[in-house]
Amino acid sequence: MKTIMKKIDEKNMDMQVIQEAGEILKNGGLVAFPTETVYGLGANALDEEAAKKTYAAKGRPSDNPLIVHIAEVQALEKIVDNVSREAEVLAARFWPGPLTMIFKKSGIVPYGTTGGLETVAVRMPSNKIARELILAAGGYVSAPSANTSGRPSPTTAAHVMDDMDGKIEMILDGGSAEIGLESTIVDMTAEPPMILRPGAITADMLEQVIGYVSIDETVLGIESDKAPKAPGMKYRHYAPKARLMIVEGNIREEVLAIRQLAFDAIQKGKHVGIIASAETIGYYSNGIIKNIGSRENEKTIARNLYAVLREFDEEQVDEIYSESFALAGIGNAIMNRLEKAAGHLRISASAVIKRQKYRRIVFVSATDTCTGPMAAEMLRQKKLYQEYVIDSRGMVVLFPEPVNQKAEAVMKSARMSMTEHKAAAFTSADYGTGILVLTMDRGQKEKIIAEYGDEGNVFTLCEYVGEDEEILSLHGKPLTEYGKRLELLSKLIDKLTEKLNKAAEEGSMENV
Ligand code: TXA
Ligand code: MG
Repeated sequence: MKTIMKKIDEKNMDMQVIQEAGEILKNGGLVAFPTETVYGLGANALDEEAAKKTYAAKGRPSDNPLIVHIAEVQALEKIVDNVSREAEVLAARFWPGPLTMIFKKSGIVPYGTTGGLETVAVRMPSNKIARELILAAGGYVSAPSANTSGRPSPTTAAHVMDDMDGKIEMILDGGSAEIGLESTIVDMTAEPPMILRPGAITADMLEQVIGYVSIDETVLGIESDKAPKAPGMKYRHYAPKARLMIVEGNIREEVLAIRQLAFDAIQKGKHVGIIASAETIGYYSNGIIKNIGSRENEKTIARNLYAVLREFDEEQVDEIYSESFALAGIGNAIMNRLEKAAGHLRISASAVIKRQKYRRIVFVSATDTCTGPMAAEMLRQKKLYQEYVIDSRGMVVLFPEPVNQKAEAVMKSARMSMTEHKAAAFTSADYGTGILVLTMDRGQKEKIIAEYGDEGNVFTLCEYVGEDEEILSLHGKPLTEYGKRLELLSKLIDKLTEKLNKAAEEGSMENV
């Protein structure tokens, strides 16, 4: 079958295209179309055979019922048995929009559409293309999300094409879906009404209109023995190809933990993806890093989530680490989908961080223009088993000087460069838990301890690696002395690398 893609503009709709698509549906064919939530795979909801085609195109188990889409509230009567007062109020308030309600079905709705159930899910979308199409098709269009079963729902026509090419007659391309996550499903046959799937219409919003609503415990992410009430929620839906893991903690811990996890995985030769937010993306450097949206405006995260998961499928990553997001407003729906995509794999950020005593190493010298930056650069070149932020600082730095030219020259001879470095003064930000401070001489160590206290994390470099010497300033010395300094540092940094890696190995053993 050839799948035709037609562009259609919501603001200036080509009704001929709508008519053509409507005819396909009336004749029992399949047309994918945009809604405000995700793209739907449309079929005539009152046609048993069309339902079968839908399941076949998606590769979806046929016990998983479809949502019937309508364009006018009056259309409800014909397909449901009884509309409660509460349902009327919710429809008046939230339709058209991202709310699906479940009712007792009438005889006219085939069991093919409801997956054999006596109930039917109904939604009136707000997207204008969707509504015109429903009218052109006769008023009742069943539409699951237009993805292959088990893949993230499509939020663009291109996503639909990726999954449905050759399997359906037509795709209407109306641009990106505005919300990006599927509708909220509320079972109106339950007393009180029960949320089976969280979405953009939140529990709070529903409760403001009809009072208390319950929530199916399986959507809360709690491990539960019970089967979800919405049959579709039991499948490992929305699954990316790579193993997705959600890292949980406060945002600072999450960033540190994900950096470490990504670093470890890359050491093992894995391709790693990171789901970051606009606020945190700058803190990552290893792996394929994607911005999922802004924490300030969680709607942007909802809108991008599925596209990001699909992009990772194309990047061929083995593992994806994701930050977690606040469980407020649409955040509930975001975390619900993310957890499903992760198959409920969660990692505690603080547990990851705890196994690493130091996350940052600061080399301290007098002016931060020679030995300190040399040591830092030499350590950066080493193969370390853990990730560290490696810096150098000076005790007396008045302005951001570049490095000493002789130091630069000897480093160049060893194929290293410090041209980017600018001297920076040691401040309180360079002292604290998780930071290993290594000074060149004893005086510097004593001064730091006198000023900031002694948490047992300040050492001279020599002392830390078990040597008695002390490294003194080269100020005014000839080039040959710089050459000797390079040799000495090379020996000390080798020892330091060994010590750090041994500690890293022991640390990770403790956590096996
Ligand atoms: O936003 C949406 O709802 C999108 C767009 C296209 O409208 N559609 C959508 O459909 O997400 P689908 O088929 O991917 O998800 C429908 C969910 C499934 O989890 C299904 O099990 C549940 O709704 N469902 C449908 N009818 C049901 C019923 N009678 N009782 C319980 N759950 C039902
Ligand atoms: Mg779906």
